[in-house]
Order: sequence, then C-alpha cells, then structure tokens
Amino acid sequence: MSTALDLRVVPDADAAASVAAEVLATLIIEAVDARGRAVIAVSGGATPWLMLGDLATRDVPWGELHVFQVDERVALDGDPDRNDTHLRESLFDRVPIPADQIHPMDVCAPDLGAAATAYGELLSDVAGGVLDVVHLGLGDDGHTASLAPGGAALDEHERLVVPTEDAFRGHRRMTLTLPALDAARRRLWLVTGAMKSAMLARLVAGDEAIPAGRVRRDETTIVCDREAAEGVNHG
Ligand code: 6PG
Repeated sequence: MSTALDLRVVPDADAAASVAAEVLATLIIEAVDARGRAVIAVSGGATPWLMLGDLATRDVPWGELHVFQVDERVALDGDPDRNDTHLRESLFDRVPIPADQIHPMDVCAPDLGAAATAYGELLSDVAGGVLDVVHLGLGDDGHTASLAPGGAALDEHERLVVPTEDAFRGHRRMTLTLPALDAARRRLWLVTGAMKSAMLARLVAGDEAIPAGRVRRDETTIVCDREAAEGVNHG
C-alpha cells in the first residue's frame, strides 16, 4: 500500500488530462486483470472532459468497465449543467461500454433522498461499495464531489450517497460521501489552473479545514499542471 501522495506535476492542462487518462486507463486494466471488472466513478465540472476524451482513444477493456458518477447537479436530462451530458459527449458516445454498466445518478427522481439511497445500494450491489478508482476534482473553495465547505453532506459518515440539503453553485446535487471516496481502492485527482493553487497546496498539506483535505490520502495520485502546483512544496 503506497502511503505517500503520488504527486505528478506536468506543464499544462492538456498534459495533465493526458497523464490522468493514462493513469486511469492503467488502473482500469489492472482492476480487470485482478478481478475481471473495473468499477470507477468520475466527477464533473469542466476539467474532466478533456481527460475522458483522451481516455476514449486508449485501448481499454470497455466491456468490463462500470462507470458511476461522483456527483450530479439536479437538472433535466440533456441540460448542459448536467455532468451526465458531458460524460456522454466525451466518453459514452465514443466507446462500447455496455449500457447496463453505465450508472447515471437519478437526479430527476421526485424523491431525491430515496434516489440517493438507491444509488448507494447499486454501488454496494455492483462493487460491494468499493470503487476501483474514484476521480476527483478540486473546487477553488476546497470542495470536492459536491461536498461543500460547511455542507451537511460533508459530515455524512454512514450513507455512501446523499442529496445536498441546499443548492450549491446553482443546483441541488446528489453526491458520493467521504465514506464512499475513502472506500475506493485508489483516488485520482485532476487539478489544473492558477485558481486552484491555494486549495491544492492545502489538499497536499492535508488541511482538514477544507473538504478535499478530509479525503483519504494513501493510495492517491494527484495530477496537476504547473499553475495549480504553484503553491505546493513538492521538493
Ligand atoms: C461538479 C464537480 C465538482 C468539480 C469541482 C472542480 O459537479 O461540480 O463534480 O466537484 O469536481 O468543482 O471542477 P473543475 O475541475 O472542473 O474546476
């Protein structure tokens, strides 16, 4: 078990997307070799799509891959604010992952709490609640997934998936919780841009005052560009 953070600083966002895609592809292949399947969860926002587009070009055992979401905004199917919309454009529409192995969060359900519980049960049924890889982004306020600073979801220690109580950056959300992120065999962070430098430094330092600093740090790779790494003392 590797306990130190595996920090990979690369020149720019394009390089970071490519390195993160390479790491993700390798971890998927290793999981399939070891257990006959790979179960991953991917975050949303803006950064992941370049990585997932690169992943789509790689030789990956798509037939053995299950993809969950780390979090999703409550908006209609096809809405440009939905992470699922971009997931489909960047990855699902380009590679042959079996449809029943693509697991979108049901954020249009009338009862978001019940839908979150069902999603957690699905994760437990498919993978025993243990993702092979969880991809994470970092907000400029230190959030990750939809675990906002001071948000109730951040303090959930039992359930794997919860709805956020309030709107966060324009939407209520459904999100994996810290127990789900920490249960994963590996964590892969992709962080780019000068706006993230302060929070990346705090993440690397393990500052638990920000949500990202509370995520398990062993078995973890952080891929970032030089701009984001500006404040990190990476030796
Ligand atoms: C979301 C994302 C979110 C994201 C961070 C960083 O749905 O908003 O899952 O948690 O990971 O906001 O996003 P960027 O890396 O695109 O800045």
